Amino acid sequence: MKKQLKTIACGAARLSVAPMMDWTDRHCRYFLRLLSQEALLYTEMVTAPALVRGGALHLLDHSAEEHPVALQLGGSDPAELAQAARLGAEAGYGEINLNCGCPSDRVQSGTFGAVLMTQAPLVADCIAAMRDAVEVEVTVKCRIGVDDQDPEVVLPDFLERIAEAGCGRVIIHARKAWLQGLSPKENRDIPPLDSDLVMRMKMQFPQLHISVNGGVGSLAEAKGFLDAGLDGVMIGRAAYHTPTDILAAADPEIFGTGVVADPVQVARAMLPYIERHLAGGGRLHQVTRHMLGLFAGRPGARAWRRVLSEGATRPGAGPDLVEQALERIDTGAERAAG
Ligand SMILES: Cc1cc2nc3c(=O)[nH]c(=O)nc-3n(C[C@H](O)[C@H](O)[C@H](O)COP(=O)(O)O)c2cc1C
Repeated sequence: MKKQLKTIACGAARLSVAPMMDWTDRHCRYFLRLLSQEALLYTEMVTAPALVRGGALHLLDHSAEEHPVALQLGGSDPAELAQAARLGAEAGYGEINLNCGCPSDRVQSGTFGAVLMTQAPLVADCIAAMRDAVEVEVTVKCRIGVDDQDPEVVLPDFLERIAEAGCGRVIIHARKAWLQGLSPKENRDIPPLDSDLVMRMKMQFPQLHISVNGGVGSLAEAKGFLDAGLDGVMIGRAAYHTPTDILAAADPEIFGTGVVADPVQVARAMLPYIERHLAGGGRLHQVTRHMLGLFAGRPGARAWRRVLSEGATRPGAGPDLVEQALERIDTGAERAAG
C-alpha cells in the first residue's frame, strides 16, 4: 500500500497545482481535476492546531474524484503535526505536505510557515514524527530562505536535514520570504526568483525529488523545467486564473496520457456536482467563483465571467446560470454552423 501511494504521488508531482488559501478548496479541486486527470492537487493549508486542538475535521472533507490530492499542513509541533498527519491520512489524502513557505503574520505568530526556514532541526523533527505516524509520503514546501539568510548556505543545509529525516520530495518556491515589511501578496512577487539555485539543488541532491515553484506562467515553461532536469513543477496563480491554458493539455503533454480537455465539456461536467452542492444547502457562487477563468483568453470569456459573477450570488441561482453563461461562449462548432 505504502509503495503504491508513493508511486502515484511521485508521478503526479511532475505537474502540481499549488496550495492556495481560499482558492484551492474542495470545489476548486473538483473543477481542476476535470481539466487534468493526472496533475497533483494540493489543499489549502490546514493548521495542525485547528485539526488536533480545534477538532475541525470538516477541513479534511474532499471528494474521491479529486485524487491524486495532497493535504498541506501548517504547524511546528512534532507531536501535533504527527496527529494531524494521521487524521489526514485516515481521511484519504495521498500525501501530507508541511508548509515552510507561507509568510503571513497570522502564520508567523504560530511559529510555522516560512519562519521554519530558520529552524531546520525543528523541521527535521516534525518530518520524522509525521513519517512515523503515516504510511503516505511526507513532503515539504519551502522557500530558498528568509530575510537576510544566504540561500546558497541555508537551502542545502535545510534540504540535507529534511532528507535525512525521511522527506524524499520537496517543492521549492524559488524566492526568499521577507518576514517583516512585506504583505503575503508582495512576498509572492517582490523577492526575486532564483530558479537557477533550485536547478543546482537538484544537481547537489540527485536522490531528492525536487519541484520548482514561483512565477511559472505556461505549460511550455513548466515543460522547460522538466526538460532541464527538474522532477516537478508547481503552478499556483496561473493555474487558478488561466486553468485551461495550464491544465487542459497537461495530461498528453506532461504525463503522456489522455487527451486535451475541452473547457465546454468541463463546464457541463460541473453541473451534476453543482446540483449535489445546492441540494446539500450550498450556494452556487461557492463553486462557480473558481470557474471564472475557464475561458480566459478565448472568445466570450468576458461575458462568461460577467454572467457567472453577477448571477451566482443571487438567491435561488442554480445550474441554469452556467448554461446561460455557456451560451455566451463562441465555440468553434457554432461558428462553423453559423
Ligand atoms: C491566494 C493565495 C493563497 C496561498 N496560500 C498558500 C498556502 O496556503 N500554502 C502555501 O504553501 N502557499 C500558499 N500560497 C503560495 C502558493 O502556493 C505559491 O507558492 C505562490 O503563489 C507562487 O507560485 P505561483 O507564482 O505559481 O503563483 C498562496 C498563494 C496565493 C496566490
